[in-house]
Amino acid sequence: MRILFIGDIVGSVGRKAVKACLPGLKNKLNPTFIIANGENAAAGRGITSNIAKELFEMGIHGITMGNHTWDQKEIFDFIDDEERMVRPANFPKGTPGRGFTTIKVKDQELVIINVQGRTFLPPLDCPFDKVDTILDGVKKRNKYILVDFHAEATSEKLAMGWHLDGKVSAVVGTHTHVQTHDERILPQGTAYVTDVGMVGPRDGILGMERGAVLQKFKTQLPVRFVVDEGKWHFHAVCIDLDPATGLGKKIQLIRMEEDQFIIE
Ligand SMILES: [Fe+2]
Ligand SMILES: [Fe+2]
Repeated sequence: MRILFIGDIVGSVGRKAVKACLPGLKNKLNPTFIIANGENAAAGRGITSNIAKELFEMGIHGITMGNHTWDQKEIFDFIDDEERMVRPANFPKGTPGRGFTTIKVKDQELVIINVQGRTFLPPLDCPFDKVDTILDGVKKRNKYILVDFHAEATSEKLAMGWHLDGKVSAVVGTHTHVQTHDERILPQGTAYVTDVGMVGPRDGILGMERGAVLQKFKTQLPVRFVVDEGKWHFHAVCIDLDPATGLGKKIQLIRMEEDQFIIE
């Protein structure tokens, strides 16, 4: 049982990178499930139904979101019907879409849960409480559970990893767009990484055109950010799970760059 989890896909450059990398990765790794964070897939802001379709057609089985979930107005037209997509579960009660779902591939099932941190992000409901409530319901039926904790603060993400150690298969962080080198199997068996990273323009700032970001920092005036163009980088993690327990056996970082694009 193997999961390939792809970090935040940013804009058309990010989608191009997924298209370039995925066939080779599927061949080499043969993942059972491919899950990706899609909150920046539409020009850095949210996702559209056509782009979600494009990602599913590339072989992605499930999409997680984050604080950019609502950036494209048309999300409200399809999020309730798209069972392969999750948005942070700790939004207020009644928010469109779902916070967790079960992805089925052949005879295997994987529960994906999306929660968002509250440090340097809007004050949503408690992500720790929310994930516990969800687990009360799903743990009886499913052994493979992946949590995408979409959060800014490394401490909050580590806290979630320890909170869920032994209770879920994997906790992967998203949102910062910078891959962290702290991947590990925690003592009770949960695979963990603070942030998976991103897929998209590598010479911008977190995927955005860097001139505008620099101008914002220097002037503190309002600046419109656009997705950078140019070469991509591709960040993901490959997680192996034990079919007997549903817990992690191995977690491996994946980093690829457009002009050093080698899959051995
Ligand atoms: Fe993001
Ligand atoms: Fe985010």
